[in-house]
Amino acid sequence: MGELCVRSVLVTGANRGLGLGLVQHLLGLPKPPQWVFATCRDPKGQRAQVRPGWEAVAVLGDRSAQCQGGDRCSKAALNMLTKCQSLAYKEHGILCVTLHPGWVQTDMGGSSESFKPPLTIDASVQGMLKVLSSLSEKETGTFLDWEGKMLPW
Ligand SMILES: NC(=O)c1ccc[n+]([C@@H]2O[C@H](COP(=O)([O-])OP(=O)(O)OC[C@H]3O[C@@H](n4cnc5c(N)ncnc54)[C@H](OP(=O)(O)O)[C@@H]3O)[C@@H](O)[C@H]2O)c1
Repeated sequence: MGELCVRSVLVTGANRGLGLGLVQHLLGLPKPPQWVFATCRDPKGQRAQVRPGWEAVAVLGDRSAQCQGGDRCSKAALNMLTKCQSLAYKEHGILCVTLHPGWVQTDMGGSSESFKPPLTIDASVQGMLKVLSSLSEKETGTFLDWEGKMLPW
C-alpha cells in the first residue's frame, strides 16, 4: 500500500461522525494534506466547534453550502455522480469512487448495546484511507467498501 499523499481535501459533515473522524485521521497522517477544508451545515451550532490546531475560515460557509447540496442528493444520485465524474475526469488522471464505510458506530449507524454496529469510526476511517491510498485507474467509477472490496451498484 502506498502512503496517502494529497494536497487538499474537502470534508462535508465534519462536525461529527465519519466526517469528523476523517478530518482527525487526515490531520494525523505522517504527511498530512496541506489543506483540509472541514465543512458543516451549521458552523455556529453546538457541535461545530473549532478544535485545537484548526482554523475557522469564513469563506467556508459558501463553499460548504454548495457541498451540502450534494450531500442532500439521494445515494443513487451520488452513485450516478461518481460514474459520470469518473468518465469526465478520467483523461485528466482524476479518480472518482464511491466508498461504503461499513456499518459504523455513529449517531446514524446507532450505538445501543442491543443493536451495536461492528465498526468503530476509527476502524472505518482507517480502512477507507487505506483504500484511497491504493486506488488506481482500474478502480475509477466503482463502488468499494471500507476494506477495498468491490460492491455491485
Ligand atoms: N454510520 C454508518 O453505518 C453508515 C453506513 C453507510 C453509509 N453511511 C454514510 O456516511 C455518511 C456519514 O454518516 P455518519 O454515520 O457519520 O452520520 P452522523 O454521525 O449522523 O453524521 C451525519 C453528518 O451529516 C450531516 N448532515 C445530515 N443531514 C444533512 C443535510 N441535510 N445537509 C448537510 N449535512 C447533513 C450532519 O450534520 P448536523 O450535525 O448538522 O446534523 C453530520 O455532520 C452519511 O452519508 C451516511 O449515509 C454511514
